Amino acid sequence: MLSSSRIDPGVLGHLLSQHRELHARLLALRETFRRPRPPGGAGLEAIRGELRGLRDYLAGHFAQEESGGHLEESIARMPRLSAAARAVLAEHSGLIAELESLLERVSTRDIRRVTWSEVAAGFAAFTDHLLDHERNENAVLQQGYNEDFGFPD
Ligand SMILES: [Fe+2]
Ligand SMILES: [Fe+2]
Repeated sequence: MLSSSRIDPGVLGHLLSQHRELHARLLALRETFRRPRPPGGAGLEAIRGELRGLRDYLAGHFAQEESGGHLEESIARMPRLSAAARAVLAEHSGLIAELESLLERVSTRDIRRVTWSEVAAGFAAFTDHLLDHERNENAVLQQGYNEDFGFPD
């Protein structure tokens, strides 16, 4: 059993603020991918940069979640959360792989309209998956810590 001395409210708050930052990055990129036409060379390079930035940010965020013990702490406080906590952590590698495959698809000089619409659909699906993931994760943390963090359902 983990002791309550392991709880670090500063680190927990940091993780939750990273969820807000991820949300903001996803919304910005979603607007980019809503444009009907593929961008030219410089625009495409900017999108690659944003996707790489999102991937790096996400990888760092996941690493903190996996090592920070906050989900474990939730389990220790409420053992029935165990399966849900393990399930959210198990999703990390698949989410990174999904983003990597999108990056691969925009790594081209000339992105034709059909490819652009496929990549845009892929990004919309990725956004849904990541938001579902974060929502489930927030629910585990929230129940484990018995606090309302003010996230919308
Ligand atoms: Fe996560
Ligand atoms: Fe997260």
